[in-house]
Amino acid sequence: MSATTTVNSTSAQPSKFKYLQPEDAEHFLTHGWLRVPNAIKQEYIDEWMSDLWTRLDFDPNDKSTWHTEYLHLPRHREVRAEDFAPKAWDAICDLVGGEDKLHPLRERWYGDQFICNFGTAARAAEENPEPPQDRATWHIDNDWFRQFLDSNGVALTVIHCFTDILPKGGGTILCEDAIKGMLLAVTIITGVGVCEFFYSHPEGLDPPDHNACCAHIRQCQQFTTVEAKAGDVLLLHGLLPHTNSLNYRHYARVIANPHATLRDPYNFNRADGNYSLVEAVILRALGRQSIPEFHPTRERLCYYPRTAGFKRAKVRAELDRMIEAAKAKGLDESAVDSIYLKGEEFMREHERRNGYDLPIGPNGLNMVQHT
Ligand SMILES: [Fe+2]
Repeated sequence: MSATTTVNSTSAQPSKFKYLQPEDAEHFLTHGWLRVPNAIKQEYIDEWMSDLWTRLDFDPNDKSTWHTEYLHLPRHREVRAEDFAPKAWDAICDLVGGEDKLHPLRERWYGDQFICNFGTAARAAEENPEPPQDRATWHIDNDWFRQFLDSNGVALTVIHCFTDILPKGGGTILCEDAIKGMLLAVTIITGVGVCEFFYSHPEGLDPPDHNACCAHIRQCQQFTTVEAKAGDVLLLHGLLPHTNSLNYRHYARVIANPHATLRDPYNFNRADGNYSLVEAVILRALGRQSIPEFHPTRERLCYYPRTAGFKRAKVRAELDRMIEAAKAKGLDESAVDSIYLKGEEFMREHERRNGYDLPIGPNGLNMVQHT
């Protein structure tokens, strides 16, 4: 159990952190994200990457077989978060105010739901990278709940790096000034940043309409494109807009993208002022010491994850290839490591952990891969 971590809303005053140094806390408050280098256990990178190409049905040595530039895969394996990347787990606990603040079930297991960004040969020949403001895919992650300013569904967006991420190599782009809504230029032109947007929408938004909160990014200026080593973990505030970038290197950039979910909604009215760092980012963005007047005006609802629709539809074909590859080695189906082959009880637990037992939301499932 981690120590309770507190921070004043306007300055980083960390105490009893398990992982964070004061400069880490200040970086998160200022930029909205943090890198935990070399955090993933090598054994998971090796094991889970070992059948990536079988799952994809691509030849790693023949790029002409890489027929799709960008791919989301489903999850076949999952392990406890604290086992997968212990340092990153400690950092997550520090950022949210202690392990006891985290949801006991959701996002407590991490897995191999890879997001692969390959680029193309034609892309590699392009001379001028696309400006980040021009990306049409800016978003925050919240495909399974009605989003309010204080929602506990995604306190952190987590990026697990399974390969190096090279410059111009398709790393995630973060828009640091989009969260604030405080830059005069942004506020005057568009009226809102992400925090102001959700402050002014106490009725909440259901997926996929939430990305209206990113409409102002064309006027933003502070962009960071992730470069990383395999094993790094990046922790993004849940309200920090991000998008994939184009891969101009024509190599396999592989990440996974889980989250940190809290047990309860944020508390923006703490009498002692001891806010968690994830709460403090929002208070800073709004220039407030507390927000006692904010209350959702509709019911909090959770749904079956909308984007799991198209990912889980790929499971059967991947399994068939994994089994075929096992047989080619003289093994049988029992050699294939997948949740989907472990029986009903295991599957039921997997579905509970990932919200697959929840009702489908008002806008249905997304059966077409998003970017
Ligand atoms: Fe995302």
